[in-house]
Amino acid sequence: MSLRLGDVAPDFEAQTTQGTIKFHEWLGNSWGMLFSHPADFTPVCTTELGRTALLKGEFEKRNVKVIAVSVDDLESHNRWIPDINEVNNTEVNFPIIADADRNVATLYDMIHPNASEKATVRSVFVIGPDKKVKLTLTYPASTGRNFNELLRVIDSLQLTANSQVATPADWKAGDDVIVVPAVSTEDAQKKYDDLRIVKPYLRYTAQPK
Ligand code: BEZ
Repeated sequence: MSLRLGDVAPDFEAQTTQGTIKFHEWLGNSWGMLFSHPADFTPVCTTELGRTALLKGEFEKRNVKVIAVSVDDLESHNRWIPDINEVNNTEVNFPIIADADRNVATLYDMIHPNASEKATVRSVFVIGPDKKVKLTLTYPASTGRNFNELLRVIDSLQLTANSQVATPADWKAGDDVIVVPAVSTEDAQKKYDDLRIVKPYLRYTAQPK
């Protein structure tokens, strides 16, 4: 069965371009982003992995460890990395899992046989420090993901984890947030000087620091 929000992200041991890792141990107390790509030496994937490398500082700021996976072997990953570096003018600075035996792809249901029997789709799993799945996304092979959106949603997840707030449609960092329904208006008024009540169930406040 596929993984659902709130499930514990399956642990595994895998060979990667940065050595063998035990996933949960490698995550430690950080957030994690595990994302699959269909295959090495393919155009969209080359742009995605380059973009991820270029965003290293953004992921670090958010305490997110990033790790990629495809069903190619280690030798293939290592031959491909110089191309990613060259095309994107960067250095791949995160591990890529060599999942030739499809162990990780199977645990995370990343192969969708009606799309492709052979390759992983573009899955994303954001995992919290409690090792639970906080976000899943699935894109087809032909559509490169929007990494600004991934950062945006991580910002939203982390706000919710740290404060009792949710984020409205098209929210971006710095915009006002919504007080979650579990907080009564009486309590919200005590907590937030700037509370703006649009409806009894729709209450805005400034983004917590
Ligand atoms: C790509 O990464 O460019 C790609 C991979 C599989 C199918 C289509 C595009």
